[in-house]
Amino acid sequence: MSKIIGTGSYLPKNIVTNKDLEKVVDTTDEWILSRTGIRERAFATDENTGDLAYMASLKAIEDAGIAPEDIGYIILGTITPQSLLGSTACYVQAKLGAVNATCFDINAACTGFVYGLEIAEGLLTISDRKYALVIGAEVLSKIVDFTDRTTCVLFGDGAGAAILEKGDGIRSVVTGADGTKITALHSGEFKVRNFLTGNQVSDHYIIMEGREVFKFAVRVLPKALSEAVQKAGMKMTDLDHVIPHQANLRIIDAAAAKMELPREKFYVNLDRVGNTSAASIPIALDEMNRKGLLKKGDKIGLVGFGGGLTYGAAVIEW
Ligand code: ACO
Repeated sequence: MSKIIGTGSYLPKNIVTNKDLEKVVDTTDEWILSRTGIRERAFATDENTGDLAYMASLKAIEDAGIAPEDIGYIILGTITPQSLLGSTACYVQAKLGAVNATCFDINAACTGFVYGLEIAEGLLTISDRKYALVIGAEVLSKIVDFTDRTTCVLFGDGAGAAILEKGDGIRSVVTGADGTKITALHSGEFKVRNFLTGNQVSDHYIIMEGREVFKFAVRVLPKALSEAVQKAGMKMTDLDHVIPHQANLRIIDAAAAKMELPREKFYVNLDRVGNTSAASIPIALDEMNRKGLLKKGDKIGLVGFGGGLTYGAAVIEW
């Protein structure tokens, strides 16, 4: 068992509004806002995924009141790592000086933070280490096709982080995946490419069947959260707050209606942040924490879905 004792988040400085995107693709502010709820997002220019993750982690460490050397694990969810070889978690470790940490990245797309919580929870339970740093960090603009108006308006860059301490707080975590739907949201295959096959240059951009993803999200969000709530021995109405993955306001509205929970319990920041994949839930959690919206003892449902297709939910007690 573990509990969250500190949070942090970081967004790059460059704000890109829907109006800015009107200059790049055939779209309008009105279309983006009415179909998604997004008004603006931040794009990195001179900072990469590990840099955003580092900034969010520094804040989480400060909030938790621990030292970098106290951290036993750094688990970083991302689909846009700094590099394929050499994990972004190791990059963050070096910048933090978290010399006692075991470090690795996980790829569960937008569910990366919830998967990370489950892994950290398991590791803290079986080891003698006391703290884990769980991060979601993305520079999605690296893999966005800016000629594809159906995807490029959706995503933003950012990072969120949380420090977990061994102890009571995370009441339950439920995760899963449906790999048969992998092509609904993917970035193409790395083709086998060597001197036997001849050269092939492959670009990797987000490719999405929007409606398929939409239907999956509206089905799995209520299912995952109600399973996590049951596992925690609670009822849905016991939840004080829900932090859904910030993909699309219409998905959040439809899922909230299915869960029969008041819409006011759902925290939303996608109008300012866009869809930041693995970073979305921890950025929202940190915003709530810093705004003083979370009271000791509050029960919070975290619930996400993403490429894979993956899904997951957690119930935490603040
Ligand atoms: N601007 C203007 N028009 C557009 C744009 C745009 N940016 N994008 C699409 N359109 C057009 C389409 O070309 C289409 O035109 P047509 O009717 O002439 O063919 C029309 O708008 C409707 O397109 P749809 O795809 O049917 O639009 P829909 O109402 O389904 O909304 C959306 C699309 C917003 C992508 C929706 O399907 C959705 O939110 N899906 C879920 C996406 C999501 O959450 N993805 C992230 C997953 S998380 C992760 O792991 C990264």
